[in-house]
Amino acid sequence: MEKTAVNTESHKLPRHLAIIMDGNGRWAKAKGKPRTFGHEQGVRAVKETVESAAAMGIKYLTLYAFSTENWNRPKYEVDILMKLLIKSLKKELKTFQEHNIRLNAIGALDTLPKKAARELEEVIEQTSKNNKMTLSLALSYGSREELLQAVKSISVKVKNNIISSENIDETIINSHLYTHDLPEVDLLIRTSGEQRISNFLLWQIAYAELYFIDDYWPDFSKQHLEQALLNYQNRERRFGKTSEQLSES
Ligand code: IPE
Ligand code: IPE
Ligand code: MG
Repeated sequence: MEKTAVNTESHKLPRHLAIIMDGNGRWAKAKGKPRTFGHEQGVRAVKETVESAAAMGIKYLTLYAFSTENWNRPKYEVDILMKLLIKSLKKELKTFQEHNIRLNAIGALDTLPKKAARELEEVIEQTSKNNKMTLSLALSYGSREELLQAVKSISVKVKNNIISSENIDETIINSHLYTHDLPEVDLLIRTSGEQRISNFLLWQIAYAELYFIDDYWPDFSKQHLEQALLNYQNRERRFGKTSEQLSES
């Protein structure tokens, strides 16, 4: 029978929850408003999700906020997204401190506008001692770009005899990814009805449970998060084994 309350024992929760926050533009369009209004309202959902996840005991939350492909959007939309990022970082520093949340960022951060990169660095530094939850913002993030730069830096190390090619293993690859200090993803949620990955954490979601919901991101709430966690808790993660093997151990 489906349980009705989320089990918040740490081994029952996804250790690492990742979310593709999608549908801001369509949400706004449905209301006859500009896409950027959807992004503004999306910030509310981010705040509620971050606070609820921390309160429930999720240790790692990673949010896809801006992809490498999103640079191809109209300049005014990109500018507004960057402004919103700066404004939210300034505003939410207090929230991070209150909830003991450490901010982290993954992606090609050197491609962000200087002001955004500086603000990000500042909040990361100020929250670096917090340890209830690590919130990673994926900004100018693309999984293929991440893998490409990992391959390049491993190649340089092989060439300089720092690593021998025979010793390259999954641990070495992991240690060259933006996510080197994060565990692999247990649960990936995507809002807005789209059922695709859009270049997000391709390596890291190898065994993640996927959960797609139709609601647009600005409507996402604590209830949606609980629903996703309940659904996750009713799944059997077999990692290639049989169901019988799992019940023996
Ligand atoms: C997600 O919403 C936010 C970002 C990708 C920055 P979208 O802006 O993609 O909204 P839709 O998918 O066009 O509705
Ligand atoms: C994925 O959403 C990126 C983020 C949520 C930041 P998109 O809206 O960019 O993805 P596609 O283009 O629909 O695949
Ligand atoms: Mg979208």
